[in-house]
Order: sequence, then C-alpha cells, then structure tokens
Amino acid sequence: AVGVGLSVGISGCAVFARPAPPAAGSVSFSNPLRVPPLAESTVEDGVRVFELTAAAGSTGIVPEGQTPTLGYNGSYLGPTLVAERGEIVRVDVDNQLPDTTTVHWHGMHLPAAMDGGPHNPIAPGETWSPEWMVDQPAATLWYHPHLHGITREQVDAGLAGMFLVRDDVEASLPLPHEYGVDDIPVIVQDRSFDAEGAFTGELGQFDGVLGDTILVNGTASPYLDVTTERVRLRLLNGSSARMYEFAFDDGRPFDLIATDGGLLEAPVESESIPLSPGERAEIVVTMSPGERAVLRSLAPDADLNAGSSSFDVMELRAASALDPSLELPERLADIPEPDASTADGERTFELSGHNINDRQMDMGRVDEVVTVDTSEVWRVRNDNPLPHSFHVHDTQFRVLSIDGQAPPARLAGYKDTIALEWNREYRLLVRFEDYADPTTPYMYHCHLLWHEDQGMMGQFLVVEPGQQPDLRTTPGGSD
Ligand code: C2O
Ligand code: CU
Repeated sequence: AVGVGLSVGISGCAVFARPAPPAAGSVSFSNPLRVPPLAESTVEDGVRVFELTAAAGSTGIVPEGQTPTLGYNGSYLGPTLVAERGEIVRVDVDNQLPDTTTVHWHGMHLPAAMDGGPHNPIAPGETWSPEWMVDQPAATLWYHPHLHGITREQVDAGLAGMFLVRDDVEASLPLPHEYGVDDIPVIVQDRSFDAEGAFTGELGQFDGVLGDTILVNGTASPYLDVTTERVRLRLLNGSSARMYEFAFDDGRPFDLIATDGGLLEAPVESESIPLSPGERAEIVVTMSPGERAVLRSLAPDADLNAGSSSFDVMELRAASALDPSLELPERLADIPEPDASTADGERTFELSGHNINDRQMDMGRVDEVVTVDTSEVWRVRNDNPLPHSFHVHDTQFRVLSIDGQAPPARLAGYKDTIALEWNREYRLLVRFEDYADPTTPYMYHCHLLWHEDQGMMGQFLVVEPGQQPDLRTTPGGSD
C-alpha cells in the first residue's frame, strides 16, 4: 500500500519499518470490551454540570505489565458526557496532572473562550469551567487536550473521551439507543508497548507515532457481547496518525447512519468506511444469533501508514438468542442541500510539509478573520503525498465538491474533519454562527496530532461585521 507518493516525500532517506498491527486473522479476542462509563452530572440553576479530573494513573492493558497512563476520572480515557440539544452545560475540568493541559470539545459549536484550544490553558492544580448552550443536532463528538506542541503526547497517554449530543429528532427514530447495550462507543487507537507494558512510540518521520497494537476503549484484543439483532457502533478514530478503513471480515454490509456532525439524510448501505484521525462514523450492524463478526481495517490505497495488509480491531459475538431490534427508518434527518451561492467569500488552504499556506502555527498571529453569521467557501488542498486531514473548530461544514465532483454519500452530511487525499481540491461550505469574539481565535489544522504539534495549524477569529480586530492579540507571538 506504500504508494508512488512516498519516494517523492522522502529525500535521500532509507525506508524504515513502520509499526503495523499483525495481519488480519491473527488476533485472538480475549478481553471483553471496556465501555467508558456515562459521566455523572448535577443540575444547578438550570445548568447541567459535569466534573472531569485529569490525572496520571496506571492501567492494565497488556499482560507485560501495568501501563502508566493519563485519564479523566479514571486511569485511561474519560467518561462519556451526554447532553440534550438546548441544555446549558458546564464542565469543571480539574487539572491534577503535573503539566498544563487544555480540554477541547471537538465538533462542538461554542464560543471561542469555551473551546479549549491552545488559548485556554489549565495550569496544574487549577480548574477551568467552560459553560455553553449545546445547540446542534444529535452527534458523536469527543474531547481531548489541545495545548500547542504537546497535544499528541497527552492524547496518546490516554486523555480523550466521547461527548454525545442527543436531540428529539434522533430520540424519536427507531435506532439502537441503549448506551453500552446496543449503542456502543468505539474509540480506536493504535499503541505500542515495551517489555514492561509501558507505551513506546517512536516518532516516524512523516506521520507521527504509529502503534502495532489496536486498542478499543483502552482494551487490547477486544470482543463485544452482542445481545440485540442490531448494534450501533459509534466509531471514533482516536489515533494520532493512523488511517483506518473499517469493514467486517465477511464483507457484510452495514448501515452508515451518521458522521461527525450528526445523522445523514438516510442510512447509507456500505461495506467499508474510511476514517482519518478525529473523524467519527455511526454504523448499525445486523447480527444473527450465535454468529461472530470481526470489525477490521482494510488497507486503503490512499493510505501511506496502515501497512500493506488489513488488521483486526474487535470481534462482535452474538448471543444464541438476540433481543429484537426495530427496522432502520428510511429517512433519518433533514439535511439541506449545501448552497455555495450563500457564501460571502472564499479562502484557500494549502497543506504542505508541516505548513498551511506556507506558514507554521504562531500563537501570536491571527491568520484569518471571518464575519459572524456568514458562510464561506474554503478550498482545501493537500499539496504533498503524505496523509493529512483538515479540521475546523466551532463549526460543522458541508463538502461541496471534491475535484469538482459531488462528494460520496458518506461525506454528504455535517463534517468537522475530512481526510485530504493528495492533490485533490476539497471545496467546503463553512458557516460561522452566533459567537463573535475579537480576542480569542479558533483553530483549523491537520488532525494528525504530530503534524498539528509541528505547526500545521492556523488561527481564525470570528468577529462582528466591520469589526477590526488586533491580529496580534495573543501571547506567544514570535514572527
Ligand atoms: Cu480534535 Cu483542534 O481538534
Ligand atoms: Cu498532516
């Protein structure tokens, strides 16, 4: 699967071994899948309040020994937060780590000061309490640190969790809804371990850290006991660099029902779904009593880093008698056609090396200024033959076209992160609503976390019409 592009990208450098999981068929699924607990919350004066404490711990993942890890309210990953559309939420984030961190709500529409990007640091021993109204369609979002330069390190150590938004539309549909029973979070990460069980990870020259062991929700060699005819898997590529193309070992089709920003218009029958780091997909799989099916990753052609063979992720084991599930609906949600004529402007983003538009991230420089309650066309292109993706904070965009063609059905819904194949032009319709703040920027960046840490990120302000913000507003400027 190492394509033509690779030799172009390497200058005079020998090919070196990239960690790859064992070939499909060689994992014996021996550990029950861990399911992150639902986060507890209290309601104070109409505000739903969650508490997250980031701290170091150790976790039993592999037989070699306990793995030193980081987690929220536990030793690895974090609880699943659930909020209803229309609720005001507050999250009290207590940093008990020895280092500064941030918590970013990936995919959430919210004010920049609550976004948890690099400008919202939480010093050791401090608590940060962002509060906002959840106002977007039901979706599988997630949270993770975002401190500039050490995002990969903190995420790879275990700091990540899911944030589910629910709404009336989704609740009224005959979909699997029971968390941990037929509605399952599936956080997929690749890691490597040393002889004592500690994480290892050498920075590859191109992608960042790749691992040879696939974890789901922090479980190695996982299996899931399925007790219902249909099971909904909320897939999150929580890896820092690896691309996946999720499929089943027997090629069985499944229904893709939602992507990053929520439900698709209708279920899309699929045999595989590619996800780059940060992307999500909700799929519904139908099982027969007593059967087993292995979720695996195929080696997609466009992928430079998944190795040349497919590899296993998780086994589904159906009970000998399954509780009945409802038929999937024919329609899921109203998704308006994206209309480029509503755009007020157009910008271009070229990703190359570790740069976007030939620049590296500078905390003190605002790269783009957009006007609140407008839409724009963002033309995004990956100019070098390495895997990159593009993620925009605060908003869910629509894909207008890829190289002039309408996007495939799997990219026709709301998205906040998109894999960028080399040398293609992605036209995105991006909308900025509700929240203007002339002093705190949002981020756009490649979601391969090491690329992001290396500076493949830029900052944009959302301002009121006519407002002239200071373009060097924030600390850390150096240019
Ligand atoms: Cu998932 Cu800017 O991040
Ligand atoms: Cu990248």
